[in-house]
Amino acid sequence: MHKILVTGALGQIGCELVSALAQTYGTQAVVASDVRAPPPGADREIRYENVDCTKLQQLQDVVRRHNIGTIYHLAALLSAVAEEKPQVAWKVNMASLFNVLEAAREHGCAVFFPSSIGAFGPTTPTDATPQVTIQRPTTMYGVTKVSGEMLCDYYHARFAVDTRGLRLPGLISHSAPPGGGTTDYAVEIFHHAVRYGRYSCFLKPDTRLDMMYMPDATRAMIELMKADGSQLKHRNAFNVTALNFTPEELAVEIRKHIPDFTISYETDPVRQAIAESWPRSLDDTAARSEWDWAPEYALGSMVTDMITHITEKAQRAS
Ligand code: NAD
Ligand code: SER
Repeated sequence: MHKILVTGALGQIGCELVSALAQTYGTQAVVASDVRAPPPGADREIRYENVDCTKLQQLQDVVRRHNIGTIYHLAALLSAVAEEKPQVAWKVNMASLFNVLEAAREHGCAVFFPSSIGAFGPTTPTDATPQVTIQRPTTMYGVTKVSGEMLCDYYHARFAVDTRGLRLPGLISHSAPPGGGTTDYAVEIFHHAVRYGRYSCFLKPDTRLDMMYMPDATRAMIELMKADGSQLKHRNAFNVTALNFTPEELAVEIRKHIPDFTISYETDPVRQAIAESWPRSLDDTAARSEWDWAPEYALGSMVTDMITHITEKAQRAS
């Protein structure tokens, strides 16, 4: 039986995608990998491999040994970290994707590539950003995402590798901390609200961005990879979205659960500039019509679920 390899599996998405894949296909079908060692207490039922994706040999070895048929390639540096270390970001984001595609070409694997709203730039139409539009990002993160989309299209056209991708918005989750992105505020705010009743936000109160709750995001990834390939016209990569709000609007929703919650603003100029270069909202019609994408979580249900989980975690820790 072909197995599924997840790279960057210890990150914010990986932690939850590995569980979702194990629930869908069984624990024996999934191999988690990362450049880091798993934390103590990690799920021992899921096979774990130490893989640095910038090393082609390591990838090829794990793909061969486990008879991998699909690779969910999550290893990358996120937008804020990539802007701090652009040279490292180019190497990690591009060399690792190239190696994944090469391993996929040699071993006949399908590849999932997570692109981002960061693949757009200030010259892109900002509202209801179309599926096909101007993509001239001004961040190293965005440059690697557009290049990644094109490289995936190239491997599909030239070598018939089954590459598929999503342009994900900011993702909100409670299992693992976010890895250094511009949308991290939308996760941090919940932890601070539950623990301290207040949060100092690094984006301005009216910064509007698309977001998605992690259960919708992992389901989107799995559904896209299951979809009938003959119906996919865009492949790399589909706009997808679920939620759309500003920090101020999120704070209002949190106050419905924690009435004394207060938010203040101490803007980080780097992350603010990144956010302002991204779309305010995406049009995901192509994903809805080509593979029936539809989110399940709205702002209210996401906030309720996040606060429930984080409160339980805080109570267990105290
Ligand atoms: P993360 O930073 O939380 O996790 C990335 C993981 O990759 C980390 O565990 C890290 O140790 C690992 N890694 C780094 N270099 C590696 C290497 N050379 N080899 C193997 N592993 C390596 O990131 P995430 O939020 O889980 O994002 C995963 C992917 O999804 C990234 O490509 C990111 O750009 C994309 N994405 C994320 C979001 C989001 O909001 N989280 C939104 C859009 C797109
Ligand atoms: N959440 C991601 C980031 O902020 C978007 O790709 O980097």
